[in-house]
Amino acid sequence: MISKECRRLAEVDFPIAAVSRHSAREKSIRHGHPSTLHLWWARRPLAACRAVLLGLLLPDPCDPLCPEEFKQEARQLLARVRCVGEGNEALRRALLGFIADFSNWDNSANPVFLEVARGLVRAAYPDGPPLVVDPFAGGGSIPLEALRVGCEAFGSDLNPVACLILKVMLEDIPRYGRARLRVPTADGGEEVVDGLAEAVRRVGALVKAQAEKELAEFYPLDPDGARPIAYLWARTARCEAPNCGAEIPLARSFWLAKKAGRRWALRYRVERPKGRPPEVVFEVFQPKTEADVPKGTVSRGNATCPACGTVLRVERVRAQLSQQRGGADVAFDEKGRRTGGARLLAVVTVRPGEQGRHYRLPTPRDYLAVRRAKERLAAILGEWEGGGRKGLCPVPDEPLPPERTLGFRVQKYGMRTWGDLFTARQKLALATLARAVRELPAAVPEAVRLTMALVVNRCADRLSTICRWNVPGEKMEGTFSRQALPIVWDFAEVNPVSEATGGYDGALEWVAEVVESWPRSPSGQAQIADATAHPLPDDAATVWFTDPPYYDAVPYADLSDFFFVWLKRTLPGHPLLRDPFDPRNALTPKVAEIVQNEAVSLNGKVKDRAFFEDGMARAFREGRRVLQDGIGAVVFAHKTTEGWEALLSGLVRAGWTVTASWPITTEMGSRLRARESAALAASVHLIIRPRPEDAPVGDWAEVLRELPRRVGEWMDRLQREGIRGADLVFACIGPALEIFSRYSRVETAEGREVTLAEFLEKVWEVVGRAALQQVLGSTDGAGAPEEDARLVALFLWTLQSTNANGGQAEVTEEEEEAASAEDDEEEEDERPRKAAGGYALVYDVVRRFAQPLGIRLPDWEGRVIETKKGVVRLLTIRERAKVLFGREGADLVARRIESTPRGPVQLELLLEDRVAEAAGDYAPHGRGRGRRPRSETLSEGEGEPRVARGATTLDRVHTAMLLQAAGRANALRALLRSEVERGPDFLRLANALAALYPKGSEERRLVEAMLLAVPR
Ligand SMILES: C[S@@+](CC[C@H](N)C(=O)[O-])C[C@H]1O[C@@H](n2cnc3c(N)ncnc32)[C@H](O)[C@@H]1O
Ligand SMILES: [Zn+2]
Repeated sequence: MISKECRRLAEVDFPIAAVSRHSAREKSIRHGHPSTLHLWWARRPLAACRAVLLGLLLPDPCDPLCPEEFKQEARQLLARVRCVGEGNEALRRALLGFIADFSNWDNSANPVFLEVARGLVRAAYPDGPPLVVDPFAGGGSIPLEALRVGCEAFGSDLNPVACLILKVMLEDIPRYGRARLRVPTADGGEEVVDGLAEAVRRVGALVKAQAEKELAEFYPLDPDGARPIAYLWARTARCEAPNCGAEIPLARSFWLAKKAGRRWALRYRVERPKGRPPEVVFEVFQPKTEADVPKGTVSRGNATCPACGTVLRVERVRAQLSQQRGGADVAFDEKGRRTGGARLLAVVTVRPGEQGRHYRLPTPRDYLAVRRAKERLAAILGEWEGGGRKGLCPVPDEPLPPERTLGFRVQKYGMRTWGDLFTARQKLALATLARAVRELPAAVPEAVRLTMALVVNRCADRLSTICRWNVPGEKMEGTFSRQALPIVWDFAEVNPVSEATGGYDGALEWVAEVVESWPRSPSGQAQIADATAHPLPDDAATVWFTDPPYYDAVPYADLSDFFFVWLKRTLPGHPLLRDPFDPRNALTPKVAEIVQNEAVSLNGKVKDRAFFEDGMARAFREGRRVLQDGIGAVVFAHKTTEGWEALLSGLVRAGWTVTASWPITTEMGSRLRARESAALAASVHLIIRPRPEDAPVGDWAEVLRELPRRVGEWMDRLQREGIRGADLVFACIGPALEIFSRYSRVETAEGREVTLAEFLEKVWEVVGRAALQQVLGSTDGAGAPEEDARLVALFLWTLQSTNANGGQAEVTEEEEEAASAEDDEEEEDERPRKAAGGYALVYDVVRRFAQPLGIRLPDWEGRVIETKKGVVRLLTIRERAKVLFGREGADLVARRIESTPRGPVQLELLLEDRVAEAAGDYAPHGRGRGRRPRSETLSEGEGEPRVARGATTLDRVHTAMLLQAAGRANALRALLRSEVERGPDFLRLANALAALYPKGSEERRLVEAMLLAVPR
């Protein structure tokens, strides 16, 4: 047993870059990866969990308390996979090297690596395997990795869906993965098969046969033998323009397939029959260029009528769809003719013996099958009602969460129950699958049954009206392409009994592959539990490692109900599938879920920041209670300082201290979105220990002296590992907290206790100052850059994105497509328009940095930045042109510069009025439109009149960039000459900006080109 004072590897060093690389790459690994067993939102990459876990478990060989026996054994074990040099340092390096290599997915089931990892853990814990506890286990990445390296694992979660995944993953797969299991055969007999995967495949085939028998008529083959694999639908609305009334198929795009050499799309003409509204008639064709394909009819919720061009506003679209409860079903008259509702745009088929997909227009047969499915579903529901509504309704009638729930948009379109997310045929198919599993012979082992329920859920994920057709990939997308339920206008309905991706066969195979890919291991334990009241006794755990909810990031409980409603129907009465805290709740537990979401109140209470903070503190306290003299780790990521403060306050209050921290990048750096809004790529792993009861009182002055040094060193190290921008900011929290949290409290010389909030304010200031120092040189005193330069530099510095690959990551066309689809679906409200361009950061972050560095944000509103709905946007260079040149434009300014006799260019005089006017134009909340006296505009919100300023260095640099853009070479040269003569500020700022503007941006291109024109 290692003594408690002996430091663990993760407290001294960690292979950040290698583990980041493997974590990011893991996201693209599909077959057999545990994350493909069942969706869980924001899963932690296994690579990161595995590496951190080993770092927590293994002692540092350089620590004098590290047992000699461990070192000897470790040397022998490591010799199997790498060379180990002499001495403790070399051994430490070898251990870290092994951790890095083993985090690679390709090595994760390699028997030699497994033996070495498990051997190391045994050598450190000769008295028996240590217990790893994760109270927010979700999809189970952490406890699963604990099993892999030979630990005991206890994973719990509040959420029943998570617990079912945990049960299968941690208990059933290890226990039955290689066991002999008895399964029924098609002829009513039984046979014994080897292993859970095979059992699931056999039983899965029986379920398929049953479902196919019942569903085939609703998915008929084409007369020529082609098999439809997906139906592409559009919800519809009626044009409300006088004299029109055309039915508008709501479609984001009319592309069907867009691969090199395979381009298919729809185009339409409008027919205008006498006495009836115009009709949109489609045709499938092969476009040559983008321009051949008609534009979509809906954008940000507003629909454009293809017949008359009138725009149907989003409120009207919502009102119309609300009358059809979302409008995913077809309306028929008594004769079976379609009268409205969803319209089939195209059908995707495959032909026996032929490669590739085919696209055809819908036929009456297609609609007939839909009508039959509707009738069949009505009959099933009628039977249930006629039978006195015994048991659950065959389709989910549970309500959707309240309208303002984070990420849920569908309620605005009249969807009220979870069932409304599916078409009648989808409901019929899923209810049929659920029943087939439910009615499996009693002899089918429970583990097989649970795993089959996960298969049904995989189907549900691909069989809702939130699924899209992925045009470049020519395949189905799932419901949750992100952590939300947005409306999808043109959705795709997969044929579940076809072999297409997204169908039942695929679902079964994905699940079976996960089961058979897991290496032999002991089984763990999964339990439903509230992390704030942990079921384990005191001192039970050796490692407490968890990945708690990220403040307001993911509404887990609400999202999970999508799956919960089907699980209830597949496994009725299963003890895991209920709310153990409230028997009347038909859905997953909400009250105890730790999340920040002020939009919705529950039992009259809102989950505000205090709720989150308090829940975290209680969970951390439970962690301390459950943990023996061990070590812990907590993963966190959040883009606001507020989210971080809420977590850290819980941690410190509960008596933990931070001993190290490691940011691990888990995203490919350059996903479209990351480039424009500082999406975080890294999550920080804080290594924590129980703070000793007798921890000393800290001296504030001492803490403040230490802070800049630690932060500075840390920033250097992390930058060498490729961590940038906001990721770097939040990664500095670790070392900062190491200083603060080791004391029982920190006091000023006067004996006043310093709060965590106060300390964190200092942290942001120190980080901001260090960043500025790096990019602009000195930050105080004479020669310090002006306020607007500091603001822009800090802003751009924060925006830089970490890239796990070190270079520019490839963004595939499919990713681009997915990202643009997401943006499109966003409606007019909620977020600031992306169309506005520029770069954006959360207001909270900008404010934290700006204030202590003497940047008064209101002063720059409309001139350099624009703040809306909690997001600060840097004005683009084009917008700056308006600020700087007003309506006169660059040309006039250029002419004036050109006509200035040789000598300093008095840009002040030229720009002064412009700046004042623009500030008025852009003044927030629409105040002060038009021209206003400058002194008034610029001192807005400050109370005291400010000295009027002339053009700043930033204004000059931007002017030069704009002259470059306008091709005014003479004016540019004159300006540059004058600026170079004036002093070093201009070039210093221009060079800094050239390094900071994102690669590929217009600003970057202009400033680089402008710098080339500087006279040498
Ligand atoms: C960030 S996720 C964990 C993800 C997990 N590490 C994985 O890789 O899949 C946080 C989890 O906390 C759970 N949770 C929220 N409040 C909880 C509470 N009071 N007790 C236990 N679990 C809770 C959520 O259901 C969610 O699964
Ligand atoms: Zn119209």
